[in-house]
Amino acid sequence: MRENIKSVLKKLGKQSELEKSEKIQVNHDERMLTISNETGEFFNILLKAMKAKKILEVGMSVGFSTLWFVDAILANNGKIVTIEENQDKITRAKKNFEEAGVSAQIEIQEGKALQILQKLATSESEQQQFDFVFLDADKENNIEYFDLVLPLVRVGGIIATDNILYPEEFRPEMKKFTEYIKSKPNVQTMTLDLGNGEEISIKTK
Ligand SMILES: C[S@@+](CC[C@H](N)C(=O)[O-])C[C@H]1O[C@@H](n2cnc3c(N)ncnc32)[C@H](O)[C@@H]1O
Repeated sequence: MRENIKSVLKKLGKQSELEKSEKIQVNHDERMLTISNETGEFFNILLKAMKAKKILEVGMSVGFSTLWFVDAILANNGKIVTIEENQDKITRAKKNFEEAGVSAQIEIQEGKALQILQKLATSESEQQQFDFVFLDADKENNIEYFDLVLPLVRVGGIIATDNILYPEEFRPEMKKFTEYIKSKPNVQTMTLDLGNGEEISIKTK
């Protein structure tokens, strides 16, 4: 892993731990709500193994997960499109990407995920472009997000969804989501008990 990415990840990881353990009090809107280090490492390895070039992220926050992803695509001259609506987090993410030296590889789409995905989904040039999509924004729209991104993913590409197991209050919503995607004829999917629980779905045809 590139040293400057590693050092920004380390700094953000420490801050995130303090927030999660409530050793510091942060307003909900300002919380980073990051994936765990283990989840980041897992996706970093998976993306390297897939030789991923193009990634779509829904829910960037301050860019912690984005940095784990970008490290894996640098060697392939890849690109990440990432969506976030919170302006303060966008400002923080931009600083983090600059510090890590990866701003050129990351396109931030600012605004509501649903509207941005609806636009992307109708663009012919984006069809089947993405090797990997990460769903980690508001949980109640996951089914709609999944349906919108599926045509954008290449056959053999992966859609990963966070928070399948934790926090537990999301479980009923997540059960509906996993049952829905299991019914799709061109998707094979399983829940991985890693971090907050990751749904790993491959587009099979
Ligand atoms: C769980 S956090 C993302 C954490 C990030 N993926 C990471 O692991 O570092 C979810 C983010 O999605 C953003 N978000 C929630 N609903 C959204 C929506 N409808 N459109 C765009 N962004 C949204 C929130 O502002 C928040 O920053």
